[in-house]
Amino acid sequence: MGRRSYQPPRSSILSSRRDARARMPRPAPVTVRVPAKVNLHLGVGPGRADGYHDLASVFQAVSLYDEVTATAADELSIEVAGATGVPVDDSNLAAKAARALASAAGVEPAVHLRLTKGIPVAGGMAGGSADAAAALVACDALWGTGVDRSTLAALAAVLGSDVPFALQGGNALGTGRGDLLSPILGRGQYHWVFALADGGLSTAAVYAELDRQRAEGAASPPAHPPDGVLGALRAGDPVALGRVLANDLQPAAVRLRPQLRRVIGAGQELGALGTVVSGSGPTVAFLVRSAAVSISFASALAGLDVCRSIRRAHGPVSGARVLPPDGR
Ligand code: C5P
Repeated sequence: MGRRSYQPPRSSILSSRRDARARMPRPAPVTVRVPAKVNLHLGVGPGRADGYHDLASVFQAVSLYDEVTATAADELSIEVAGATGVPVDDSNLAAKAARALASAAGVEPAVHLRLTKGIPVAGGMAGGSADAAAALVACDALWGTGVDRSTLAALAAVLGSDVPFALQGGNALGTGRGDLLSPILGRGQYHWVFALADGGLSTAAVYAELDRQRAEGAASPPAHPPDGVLGALRAGDPVALGRVLANDLQPAAVRLRPQLRRVIGAGQELGALGTVVSGSGPTVAFLVRSAAVSISFASALAGLDVCRSIRRAHGPVSGARVLPPDGR
């Protein structure tokens, strides 16, 4: 008769793994700061068979930040501070990021993620993508997975079109769905005022509206290549940059949110160097000449009462980075 080894029930294997983890010293929490983005140029090609659109996008990372703190825990959980309406279940892109990294690295997704939101939610500034990028970097450091930067970038691209840029930051040209990045060697710091709207816009709905407008012949043809933006960044010239800001999604965002016309009109009224809807909106970005001008511009914009709230920022800034443990 063959020998049968004792097989403990699966639940007791799991609980003994948990007990073993509980006995190990837990690593210190890791906090990652991650920036928002604005598109200086968003050229949208025709729809593709996979439901996406080919893009020629010039991103700039700007100094509005989310922070993601990863703390060792028995299982994956999410907590959100600083915003309402962000899911705390598995549909949160940060949770998907933690699971994707855990599975690639062969570890358990045992982490509590605290998201502190400073980036407008569903505002066209890639806040959800930023949290996914930050969760990848934070969990990587917490778990000591040692995966290389290119593996993180590949995981990022699967999570969403804007996630690779949130890892990288700076100025970059995005092609494909926006996920194939080439860094841009630019000069200068640029100063922005952002008008935040009440409520967000669904990115998918804005792309679908653009397709509808194009099918009706109501939308202008896809934007020219981003040569003007690249030239202005090379020269470090905010006046030239202001003239060439472009976004093919803007007419679709305005159709879905007609109040944006007044916000965009405020740019000309108040003398912005350039005005553009950020990504799929509804945030509107105003480029101004200096940090000092951004203060007076923001207060004049508040006086017009055309938006819910206003933020000032500068760019480019770096992508998702671990903060030193002693703080900011
Ligand atoms: O990649 P991400 O999940 O951020 O995209 C959200 C939605 O935006 C997609 O489901 C798609 O409808 C639309 N999209 C697109 N073309 C892109 C990027 C996004 O149509 N290049």
